[in-house]
Amino acid sequence: MQNQHINKLGYIFSDDCDCKKILESAFSKGADGIINDLIYSGLRGRGGAGFPTGLKWKFAKKEQCDTKYIICNADEGEPGTFKDREILTKVPRKVLGGMTMCAMATGAKQGYIYLRAEYKYLVKELEKEIEEFKLVQKELGIDFNIDIFLGSGAYVCGEETALIESMEGKRGEPRNKPPYPIQDGYLGKTTVVNNVETLASTMVVFRIGAKSYKNLGTQEQKGSKLFSISGDSPREGVHEIELGMSAYDFVKEFGDDDTKAIQIGGVAGFCVPRKKFKTTIIGTGNTTGGSTMLFNSSRSMYNVLHNYLDFFVEESCGQCTPCRIGCQQLLKGIEAVKSGNKPPKYLNQLLKLADTMNMTSKCGLGQSVTNSFTSIVKSFREEIIY
Ligand SMILES: Cc1cc2nc3c(=O)[nH]c(=O)nc-3n(C[C@H](O)[C@H](O)[C@H](O)COP(=O)(O)O)c2cc1C
Ligand code: SF4
Repeated sequence: MQNQHINKLGYIFSDDCDCKKILESAFSKGADGIINDLIYSGLRGRGGAGFPTGLKWKFAKKEQCDTKYIICNADEGEPGTFKDREILTKVPRKVLGGMTMCAMATGAKQGYIYLRAEYKYLVKELEKEIEEFKLVQKELGIDFNIDIFLGSGAYVCGEETALIESMEGKRGEPRNKPPYPIQDGYLGKTTVVNNVETLASTMVVFRIGAKSYKNLGTQEQKGSKLFSISGDSPREGVHEIELGMSAYDFVKEFGDDDTKAIQIGGVAGFCVPRKKFKTTIIGTGNTTGGSTMLFNSSRSMYNVLHNYLDFFVEESCGQCTPCRIGCQQLLKGIEAVKSGNKPPKYLNQLLKLADTMNMTSKCGLGQSVTNSFTSIVKSFREEIIY
């Protein structure tokens, strides 16, 4: 029997969604009605940081700015994440519907889909969908244009302010925050940046009703969400799961009976060892991106960690020292411990360095390195040392 968290779902990919009808009923509530329903539903951003979506729209509506923008973040550079691609391929209308709803709620007239450069092959189909959707917008009397902007090919460009910098033709480097994009976004104007899945989920909220949505999930995390499942799993792919599932149930459902660890939230997230499966809930906290990688006993966690650090060294934009130098030092450090050139206790110094990076790095990239580093080193120390 399938787990109750999975069985009844399929909201995001369901094709019984009449976007025009949903938008019509949402519009009848007015901008404040839309925002209040979203706040009530408990929907949080699905891009990683988990900020309440209704609140973000409320702040954007409040801003007295002559021009406002909506950006759909489809950069999807987190290793192990491929759910947004699936949404844009299978149900792009829900994303266009979510953007249009956001425009209605905030007063924006222009939207962009910031599309990962590797997803260029989707452009033609998306342009066709946007063109067809204009008819729905016209029938609803909404003046909102959507264009596609091809991403700049770096993981950090998924960070909302780096994304905006790159759209403005500059190097894709994160800005200091505050000010946030709501106050000072694209071209200095009020800008809502939302993840692809977040926007599609707003359509789910208005299809099933804010109350039904709120009834899904847990006290802290409402609704259902998509998980990109990869690694040692016989069921790799994108699956929709009600929030609140334990890692133990998740592994029962998607593991290969030999799972020794799951990486939750991509390389920016946490590695959970088998002994913590029963006490860990997946998809909560700041790991709402939905990447879940399963590792069985054939995998070396040293190699896994080495792979992550290689990625961070490559993708650090180099703007701030803790991240630029810290990533390199962590990588060199574990290599030295593994080869016996440094004693195992050197790992304690590396753990302190990772914590310092967390406190002093400028953006989420450098701040999150400590998550995977610390969780792997603490749980799989014997696999890291010589
Ligand atoms: C290094 C880095 C990469 C990110 N990449 C993405 C991404 O590919 N897609 C995404 O939606 N959010 C990404 N984010 C999070 C965004 O900065 C932002 O929080 C998100 O787009 C807001 O949308 P949401 O509120 O709908 O989650 C990234 C953050 C960091 C620090
Ligand atoms: S933390 Fe890393 S990615 Fe972020 S600004 Fe600093 S160097 Fe760039």
